[in-house]
Amino acid sequence: LHCLYISLLLLFFQHKDAYQAILDGVKGGPKEKCLAAQFIPKFFSHFPELADAAINAQLDLCEDEDVSIRRQAIKELPRFAAGENLPRVADILTQLLQTDDSAEFNQVNTALISIFKIDAKGTLGGLFTQILQGEDIVRERAIKFLSTKLKTLPEEVMTKEVEDFIFTEIKKVLEDVTGEEFVLLMRILAGLKSLQTVSGRQQLVELVVEQAFLEQALNPADADSVDRLLQCTRQALPLFSKNVHSTRFVTYFCEHVLPNLSMLTSPVAELDIQLEVLKLLAEMSRFCGDMEKLETNLKILFEKLLEFMPLPPGEGENGEHSGNEEPRLQFSYVECLLFSFHQLGKKLPDFLIDKINTERLKDFKIRLQYFARGLQVYIRQLRVALQGKTGDALKTEENKIKVVALKITNNINVLIKDLFHNPPSYKSTITLSWKPVQKMDVVGQKRPSGEEVAPGSAMKKVSPLPRRDARQIYNPPSGKYSATIGNFSYEQRGGFRGGRGRGWGGRGNRSRGRIY
Ligand SMILES: *[C@@H]1O[C@H](CO)[C@@H](O)[C@H](O)[C@H]1NC(C)=O
Ligand SMILES: *[C@@H]1O[C@H](CO)[C@@H](O)[C@H](O)[C@H]1NC(C)=O
Ligand SMILES: *[C@@H]1O[C@H](CO)[C@@H](O)[C@H](O)[C@H]1NC(C)=O
Repeated sequence: LHCLYISLLLLFFQHKDAYQAILDGVKGGPKEKCLAAQFIPKFFSHFPELADAAINAQLDLCEDEDVSIRRQAIKELPRFAAGENLPRVADILTQLLQTDDSAEFNQVNTALISIFKIDAKGTLGGLFTQILQGEDIVRERAIKFLSTKLKTLPEEVMTKEVEDFIFTEIKKVLEDVTGEEFVLLMRILAGLKSLQTVSGRQQLVELVVEQAFLEQALNPADADSVDRLLQCTRQALPLFSKNVHSTRFVTYFCEHVLPNLSMLTSPVAELDIQLEVLKLLAEMSRFCGDMEKLETNLKILFEKLLEFMPLPPGEGENGEHSGNEEPRLQFSYVECLLFSFHQLGKKLPDFLIDKINTERLKDFKIRLQYFARGLQVYIRQLRVALQGKTGDALKTEENKIKVVALKITNNINVLIKDLFHNPPSYKSTITLSWKPVQKMDVVGQKRPSGEEVAPGSAMKKVSPLPRRDARQIYNPPSGKYSATIGNFSYEQRGGFRGGRGRGWGGRGNRSRGRIY
């Protein structure tokens, strides 16, 4: 230790040997290391010819088995981050993110942020090198760092140039990702200012399309493929708008998903995969642009809808539903399918009134009417059940389900009325039952206000569809229905299968070990 003091003294006169002695302290005992951790950075800039040795010595300290020495060394690490040394320091700090010591972890984060402010691109270089080549744990932590910290950085740091660099690097990473990583990376990109424009969102959709394998058929039995498609669609969904179209996804759902809907394997056991798919389709259908095979796809969609809109018992051509058997009405499915059909049908109004297909409309109207009757019975039941209930009374699980059920049935009612027009109309707008109500989206615009979703108030005004015989024709759904009604919120679920390297894009065997 005495030696060290002398060295320090010599340092004031910028003596190279003295600095070298301090560097050697790294190989000494705890006290020497501790002093070295403080003094190596302090005098680093005075000895450019020893820069490499100094950095290496400091890095040794960053890996010391004593956590207090590590923390001290890490704290000082940003001091070495000048000029060409910065990317290297960034690289090391990124690797240090793998620590399990939370104080050390926070220190690494702080250090990374401080060098980010010195040189954003240099720091990103280090981060992305590790994301692309580092160990799994480092890659994971580095992606997490980006996804949580970038948005906290000031605007003068996150310049257009920096954002462009991030976009370019993330595109490289996306060539081989797990589903979980994909979601995080998309979140990073979606947060970049320069991608908030129409063309920015369009570029993001392109990235999702590449991940989604839309040029391949979907194997309904492969849960991983189904998962991938769902994940990608969910990522794309918030990007769609009047100007950024969902056409390729909607087309894919019509051509490859709907025909095999009942065979889809759910990636998550408790998920109603069919409903999930139909909800996504419904949400996307609003933003579908010009579709190449519109009529073919509309027909697929229409036929799927008919599966869920039965003919009254005894009226089926093949005697389907003959006898006493009551078909079950799947309101949640029908809301989605009817909405999607209403959206796409708008683009081809002739579909239902085609002279060649007069039977189609006739048959459809019978189904609409039958469904509407059952609907009225159920709406009345729901309204009676909810009548007078406000506040906390509506917050019980059972009543929440009924409130949603009422939204669904009201939505279906509006759509059925529209399609029942002569000729069928496509004008009404609704807010899908699982979406938050938007002020602009008035439910069933032309209807009296009493018909709105809110229960309790004006429940008397049941729509003027035929009511006679409703009870005889149709047994309203009971508890079984309630259990399946869509209280499932996919946004809260990760829905990921397996871990890294499994399922989605099993990433190759990346080189292990630190690279410095
Ligand atoms: C439906 O799934 C089968 C495999 O089970 C597949 O051969 C067929 O191509 C799928 N249909 C569509 C339209 O993708
Ligand atoms: C959905 O409803 C079922 C049946 O009431 C309930 O068990 C489940 O916890 C609900 N899920 C959510 C996410 O609220
Ligand atoms: C990955 O690398 C490890 C260690 O080098 C090796 O044991 C393992 O078999 C490799 N896995 C694959 C899929 O190549």
